[in-house]
Amino acid sequence: MKVPLLDLKAQLAPIEREIKEAVLEVVDSTRYIMGPKVEELETRIAEYVGAARAVGVSSGTDALLVSLMALGVGSGDIVVTTPYSFFATAGVVARLGATAAFVDIDPDTYNISPAALEEWFERETTRVGQVKAIVPVHLYGQCADMDPILEIARRYGVPVVEDAAQAIGATYPSKSGVKKAGAMGTVGCFSFFPSKNLGCLGDGGMVATDDAALADKIVLLRNHGAQPKYYHSLVGGNFRLDAIQAAVLLVKLPHLDTWHAGRRANAAYYDRHLNVPGLKKPHVAYGPDSHIYNQYVLAVPDDRRDALRKHLDANAVGNEVYYPVPFHEQQCFAHLGYKTGDFPHSERAARRTIALPIYAELTDGMKDYVIEKIEAFYE
Ligand SMILES: Cc1ncc(COP(=O)(O)O)c(C=O)c1O
Repeated sequence: MKVPLLDLKAQLAPIEREIKEAVLEVVDSTRYIMGPKVEELETRIAEYVGAARAVGVSSGTDALLVSLMALGVGSGDIVVTTPYSFFATAGVVARLGATAAFVDIDPDTYNISPAALEEWFERETTRVGQVKAIVPVHLYGQCADMDPILEIARRYGVPVVEDAAQAIGATYPSKSGVKKAGAMGTVGCFSFFPSKNLGCLGDGGMVATDDAALADKIVLLRNHGAQPKYYHSLVGGNFRLDAIQAAVLLVKLPHLDTWHAGRRANAAYYDRHLNVPGLKKPHVAYGPDSHIYNQYVLAVPDDRRDALRKHLDANAVGNEVYYPVPFHEQQCFAHLGYKTGDFPHSERAARRTIALPIYAELTDGMKDYVIEKIEAFYE
């Protein structure tokens, strides 16, 4: 048997005709840049995540970049974030000439630790004034602990940019009711990279916010800061979402909650049937339906993670490591002056975790095969 990490053909099969029709409709319309599909998707996503406005952009990376640009982040500024995420989270900070300051993760959820964040603000009294944003990441599809993060941000007067690239539809039981990822901070950033729970046929992203002025600025920045055409009040970029991708996402969005449910059922199956002493399964911090399982990530009990990977590869079980090197150990961030040992929970996660196939269309037989191969490795 073969169990790939992700099988996009299986997801496509039941909606293939509709997707192709939607693509052809855009082809025939010749409205390839912006237009009604992008606008309709913006309305649908704003509704889905519970934000007043949503702005379609070219990728999750550009969603983060344009959000930080709109908040005025630049040279001399500090952005506080996690050292354990996809590169874009910290890469965009550096691209704007700002400095990323890292605080360690919670070892159970792998999300930024509110206690470590609080400690950073208390310790770094001389740098606090330079902080222009806090960027929590809702890693693997589970929300960071937003209430205390938002409280710290409020106390220091700093905007919060949620990196919800992996977490569209994830929920958080906030003090003021259940909220969705990307609709709690100042801005929320989403990715439609094909491996996300809501993925398009290439790159795509979205920014959500309740702040109308900020949304207007992001709309402007998305198109080189031009309004009207050829009159530039700001220096922006080409951060536009393609009409074809918007059309595809409009077909897929109505299926999203069903796909989330399929992933949750698969996670519950692994939780129930995978039995290896010391193997740490995903910790669900909130209610049973809060996690959207963009990834199902295990932490192995010893230093044999890479040997387990080889064993799974040899048995055609898809797997991946998200992420093997935390930001403070990346060569390109050496100038920031961090060293190994500074963020022990992130370092341990980078060395011990492994992601399993979790996509909605997995059969029980496939999950049993994955479980059998992992258990055999530890026998
Ligand atoms: C946490 C996180 N942030 C940002 C991104 C960037 O998104 P994109 O690949 O759409 O640029 C991703 C996607 O890979 C991600 O997982």
